Amino acid sequence: MKEENMRIGVYPGSFDPLTNGHLDIIKRASKLFDKLIVGVLRNSAKNSIFTMEERVALINKTLSVDPELHNVEVIMFEGLLVDFVKNSGASTIVRGLRAVSDYEYELQMAMLNKHMCEDIDTIFFMTDIKNSFLSSSIIKDVAKNGGSILGLVPEVIVEDIRNKMSE
Ligand code: PNS
Repeated sequence: MKEENMRIGVYPGSFDPLTNGHLDIIKRASKLFDKLIVGVLRNSAKNSIFTMEERVALINKTLSVDPELHNVEVIMFEGLLVDFVKNSGASTIVRGLRAVSDYEYELQMAMLNKHMCEDIDTIFFMTDIKNSFLSSSIIKDVAKNGGSILGLVPEVIVEDIRNKMSE
């Protein structure tokens, strides 16, 4: 299929690191689009523990073990999300919602992005209930304190996260 005829979605985030919650959204969103781009923010306002390259590598490693995710691509971005979305040939932003507490910030972000670029819409996936308590921050906290992160992050990257957090 020609790139200009493709339905392309962008799932942006810090992914510091990828969790099972993120992976679930990637799996579900990848079915809606011909191509799903996971956009990893280069200079997150949040102080990232994992370097840009490490965050991207963890996502790519996770994608590589699931052939169903062949239409998912990981790209770093910096600057405005709407510019990245436009330059990627996409017009849809994908985000996950875990709880009502996420909603306020997500609504503000979606409205701001819509204000800056009328042609770009944000769609939300309700997080699967089994992942609703997950966040990158709690994963780092559990791993740093020697707890088990099995079942919280993709199995293939458990060891990488453990090693990083015990550095
Ligand atoms: O995983 P996160 O940290 O909640 O993702 C936030 C992200 C990357 C989607 C957001 O911070 C973002 O889009 N940053 C890029 C700069 C930008 O476009 N800002 C205006 C919209 S908030």
